[in-house]
Amino acid sequence: ATAQIGVTGLAVMGRNLARNLARNGFTVAVHNRSPQRTRSLIAEHGDEGAFVPSESLTDFVASLERPRAVIIMVKAGGPTDAVIDELVPLLEEGDIVVDCGNAHFADTRRREEALRGHGLHFVGTGVSGGEEGALHGPSIMPGGSDESYAKLGPIFEKIAAQVDGTPCCRHIGPDGAGHFVKMVHNGIEYADMQLIAEAYDLLRAGLSASPAEIAEIFRDWNGGELESFLIGITADVLAHTDAATGRPFVDVVLDQAEQKGTGRWTVQSALDLGIPITGIAEATFARSLSGHADQREAARRAFPDAGEKWQVDDRETFVEDVRRALLSSKIVAYAQGFDHIRAGSREYDWNIDLGGTATIWRGGCIIRARFLDRIREAYDAEPELPTLLVAPWFADAVSAGVPSWRRVVADAARAGVPTPAFSSSLAYFDALRAERLPAALIQGLRDDFGAHTYRRVDRDGSFHTLWAGDLSEVEA
Ligand code: 6PG
Repeated sequence: ATAQIGVTGLAVMGRNLARNLARNGFTVAVHNRSPQRTRSLIAEHGDEGAFVPSESLTDFVASLERPRAVIIMVKAGGPTDAVIDELVPLLEEGDIVVDCGNAHFADTRRREEALRGHGLHFVGTGVSGGEEGALHGPSIMPGGSDESYAKLGPIFEKIAAQVDGTPCCRHIGPDGAGHFVKMVHNGIEYADMQLIAEAYDLLRAGLSASPAEIAEIFRDWNGGELESFLIGITADVLAHTDAATGRPFVDVVLDQAEQKGTGRWTVQSALDLGIPITGIAEATFARSLSGHADQREAARRAFPDAGEKWQVDDRETFVEDVRRALLSSKIVAYAQGFDHIRAGSREYDWNIDLGGTATIWRGGCIIRARFLDRIREAYDAEPELPTLLVAPWFADAVSAGVPSWRRVVADAARAGVPTPAFSSSLAYFDALRAERLPAALIQGLRDDFGAHTYRRVDRDGSFHTLWAGDLSEVEA
């Protein structure tokens, strides 16, 4: 046995992860259900490092040093369970099974418990950064036991993206913590992309600008506070021309956004935990809405001219307004995402370090952005921060952005341009800072029709008003 770590599942993510490990000096056992993939990896990239190929799972396991560390990189769900079932009988106590797919954290918790019963470590690990990230340095979010991290940490920290000498990998917490954090990462990714898409739509409508012109605006934004991977590739995609038609690429793509489900999982989990992640939810629903072609067609015919003609007088101010609205809404999305991680951490006893999580998203992952440094600083300075929105840098950015944010949302509403994420983020901000919320009326209504009781501002206890009687109040 010579290999320090193994990868089974050599589709593009697994293959690139294996190459990354080999290029970093690790001896990597590689295996794939159909051996052709293993052979082509060795034929094409065998010279990049030390690979130990196997055509059977038994040989693969035998080629690993103990305690064995096996990375599974197959489709989430059934295929992952199938590989685990095959692998477990071949492993020995103390061995480590690492699932680097986009698994649901509840599945990871279930698998971790099951494998613990066999004396094995199961490490659900979030990996972000797509194919390129897997090869050149992803952001890695491992869950699982401390013991497993003692073996995996030095390996993962070496192959991860590095920012200012710090690896974009850290032990997130026990069992499903890593996959939970990756799930929220993807939810934030949905929100980020929806906000970018709304900003583009606003610029296009307000300025009557071409996608290529808007690409330049995004390029410019990428030099400032908004600097991020997604803003950068937005400029690339908008600047791209379709070869077949000569039209802007973005105009020939069907406007129905798909999803593999991690955004939906994030929203489902947030509902369970009672955390309002409105930005992520709106982004997820916006994708669903875009796919309802029949309803869109019917509504388009029924309401051909819903808005006023958009007239932007001062182009420069408008572009700056959209930029600030985007930044403020993005801050809301991240604030909500980190609230969600904190709630998950409390619910499942994971003890997740929020600042540390921000640290490993600074590089490698899809949502990597300059302002993640600010998030780390905010939670490092005050771990119990009630919301990211009130941390000094974010509070200043949002305060400076509020007038722009209101103008953009109001103008968009007047012109009939949909901004679900921009406007719901503004509503979230206003609700959070409101002196009084109409929730009091909701409580009154609940008490009226269902005697659900309410609490008072001036006295402790629960109360009920005899709505159908003499309107007197009784202590419940
Ligand atoms: C990443 C991404 C990745 C995700 C894709 C597609 O961090 O590298 O989040 O894991 O699978 O972005 O997601 P959707 O198909 O749901 O958009």
